[in-house]
Amino acid sequence: MTDPEAGPVPGSKLPITTRAPGKCILFGEHGVVRGTPELLFALDLETQVVLKAGERTQLNGDVEAATSPGYFGTALEEMWALGPPVAVRTTSRVPRGSGLGSSAAFVAALAAGLGSATGGIDRPTLARRSFAIEQRTQGIGSPGDTTASVAGGFVTLNDPTGSELWTLDDGRTQWTARRIPDPGWIWVVAYSGIPRAAPEAIRLVRDRLEQPDGPRLLQRFESVARGGIQALCREDRTEVGRRLSENHELLREVGVSHPRLEALLEAARPAMMGGKLTGAGRGGSLVALPIPGRELELARRIARAGGVPYIVRPSSRGAALIGAER
Ligand code: PMV
Repeated sequence: MTDPEAGPVPGSKLPITTRAPGKCILFGEHGVVRGTPELLFALDLETQVVLKAGERTQLNGDVEAATSPGYFGTALEEMWALGPPVAVRTTSRVPRGSGLGSSAAFVAALAAGLGSATGGIDRPTLARRSFAIEQRTQGIGSPGDTTASVAGGFVTLNDPTGSELWTLDDGRTQWTARRIPDPGWIWVVAYSGIPRAAPEAIRLVRDRLEQPDGPRLLQRFESVARGGIQALCREDRTEVGRRLSENHELLREVGVSHPRLEALLEAARPAMMGGKLTGAGRGGSLVALPIPGRELELARRIARAGGVPYIVRPSSRGAALIGAER
């Protein structure tokens, strides 16, 4: 592999600093939990994690975090069972609870650090460990978020397009992660200010998909994501925009939109090719594909309507070591 950040995370000694990107889901959230395709990209908003030898294991000064249920305690159980005390500090540009992958970025950066301190870790194992930590903590979900944080760039799950990165499974569902090229576009993501409630939203959609019309709905999740992935690979902006809006309609139909998201998308409409909520929904964030040259106008429209916009480029960098003693 030519990109060092696509290869293994090398072994090193504490102190270690790592980083991992947040993510944006373009197509297929919710359906992906049942194994239909998803497309995501890593955001140029990152989380950094510093791991140091300490007297007591702690997260940002909190010693109880190590034994409380949560990502940190679960990561230690998965990857640091016999390790010495480790003091972890985090800083993040990914807004928390926004559906932009703050927990996946934390988990991937932490797992990269713990993996490095225990002799190094190859990328498929890092992806599997990160997914296991997120799944055990949330009790539900797909490996999409952690895959994007570990891999960087554009990734698909369960779509045949692109080159295979790794496979994942949770004992019931299997996913294959693949890399597709970045078309080089600028995107606008925006936080509604209302934290999204992922496990509740995921359960709501799961129950909806168990209704008699569930299989038909799941087929629509599949077809909108496949069409969106193909359109992105052809660099067909008009069709990607149309598919984004179609995917939003579907998410609204299954009950995971929110009046704030609807208001923000309405405000954005004149300056975008298409847009949708991104992530679990019922709050959280939206993603919009700007009409070229109107990125700033799009961001302003969203800000005036009360959202927190970010003009973003996908980041090709996955979870990586940025400082360590060898
Ligand atoms: O809101 P987020 O960032 O947790 O995204 C959730 C995406 C879902 O498809 C709804 C769940 C999952 O784990 O894939």
